Amino acid sequence: MNTIIRASAPAKVNLVFEVGQLATDGYHPVNSLFLALDLREELTLVKGEQGTGISIYVHGDSLPESHIDSVPTDQSNLVHKTAVLFAQKLGRPTPDLQIDIRKRIPVAGGMAGGSADAAAMLIAMNEFMHLEHGTPILAIEELAVIGAELGSDVPFCIYGGLAIGTGRGEVITPLTDLAFETNWLLCASSKGLSTPTVFAAFDEMGSHTPFSDLNEISATTSPAELGQKMANDLEQAAFRLMPSLRDLVDQLEQLGAVRAMVSGSGPTIAALFDSEAKAIEVSKVLKSQGLVALTAKGQAPGARLDG
Ligand code: C5P
Repeated sequence: MNTIIRASAPAKVNLVFEVGQLATDGYHPVNSLFLALDLREELTLVKGEQGTGISIYVHGDSLPESHIDSVPTDQSNLVHKTAVLFAQKLGRPTPDLQIDIRKRIPVAGGMAGGSADAAAMLIAMNEFMHLEHGTPILAIEELAVIGAELGSDVPFCIYGGLAIGTGRGEVITPLTDLAFETNWLLCASSKGLSTPTVFAAFDEMGSHTPFSDLNEISATTSPAELGQKMANDLEQAAFRLMPSLRDLVDQLEQLGAVRAMVSGSGPTIAALFDSEAKAIEVSKVLKSQGLVALTAKGQAPGARLDG
């Protein structure tokens, strides 16, 4: 029997994203309140024929063709890098693999789509190497340490739920769940924004505020209260690079969002609603304007094996 492993990992929104001054390592210290959404990347890993290396097939679900076409399938794909790094950490050669990625998270959209792929791949590789080569199953904390080498958001995609991210975003402190379910409308752009470009625009604008106590914010009791506390230090930088985003935020709030905000480094706009029905209703309005609008719920579990 050929080994087939399925894994998935969630998208994230930063309910709060506070950014400090650029450090000498090329990263910004952050204070982030992460929430995982039930919009999940799905990955299937199949043992390949000996000597065939790694082949990656990417397809989409409710995403524009342009998003799927922009994902590389060679060794620059984060999932490929994950396979190589994971095997290296175990002191094993990189296995031959066929990997299928079903993308649901907007690409280069500030929602950790690539990081979710890496997180799902780490969970899948952990199982694959154990089944095929008898290597020990690594704990979630060990996977998060490896994940941090692949990208700052990968550890959160492994943990999921609600968590504080510090350092460059990779130091995760899990929190207890929000007291209520959150309903989101995610409006994706046809063009992505590069994370380093948005951070560079933020540096040029030079506005830093002190970090807040995110434990307090996580204890909110309603969408309205949470909406008031949502904040993203990168939002103005994203607006500067893509001015149309400001109009979209205004439009979403006029249409009834409790709060609409650039997600992470953007350009996806994450709009919080106080009911699923309202989020769906507004998604129809945006779709009729030719926009990509996806509904999702928070919170959701982190990377996991799927049956
Ligand atoms: O960690 P990740 O690979 O996702 O980061 C991509 C880029 O985003 C980094 O090379 C850096 O330019 C920028 N970044 C940053 N500060 C962070 C996270 C990312 O400046 N905390």
